[in-house]
Amino acid sequence: MTRASGPERIIRRLLRVNHSGEHGAVAIYSSQIAKAKTRYPEILPWLEETLSHELQHRAAFLEAMPSRSAKPCRAMYVWKYGGAILGRITSLFGKNGVMICTAAVERTVHRHLAEQLSFLQKHDPALAETVSRILIEEGQHLETAERQHNRNSVFAKLLSGAVSFSTEMLILVSTRGDSLRLSRALQST
Ligand SMILES: [Fe+2]
Ligand SMILES: [Fe+2]
Repeated sequence: MTRASGPERIIRRLLRVNHSGEHGAVAIYSSQIAKAKTRYPEILPWLEETLSHELQHRAAFLEAMPSRSAKPCRAMYVWKYGGAILGRITSLFGKNGVMICTAAVERTVHRHLAEQLSFLQKHDPALAETVSRILIEEGQHLETAERQHNRNSVFAKLLSGAVSFSTEMLILVSTRGDSLRLSRALQST
């Protein structure tokens, strides 16, 4: 089997990282929804609508894979437990904890997607279009989550930092370290 070099290979890796990130968002929102049903029903409609977007994002990246010879990460199962643990722990801190977690996860996903845009516009305009469309929704999720919690408290900063770190670690583990190498590759292109 020949190993395609350059942009095609980077695009396959981007798709794997993006699909993994969306899979993580689905896992985290699903876990938060389970808790919100009994504890914070007022944010349930928003969480459910946001989960429906994340499911569409994950499906869009999965759909883009076959024509680019890409496959999902084999370690996606880490999200089953990692996402559930992250969602559960942050929901222990109430509605504020849920929104701090949501904002931190969305910020991480948004950053991963935004850093790919100029590369994709140059090498895969169709995928760039998909990423741009998803970025708009991720931006709305982030904006809503940020509006609904106090970002300036020490607690919010600590929890937000812990969630961002955990999300990056889960993406790193599920992609077997490729998310970090890919970030460096994009910065050098
Ligand atoms: Fe998403
Ligand atoms: Fe999102």
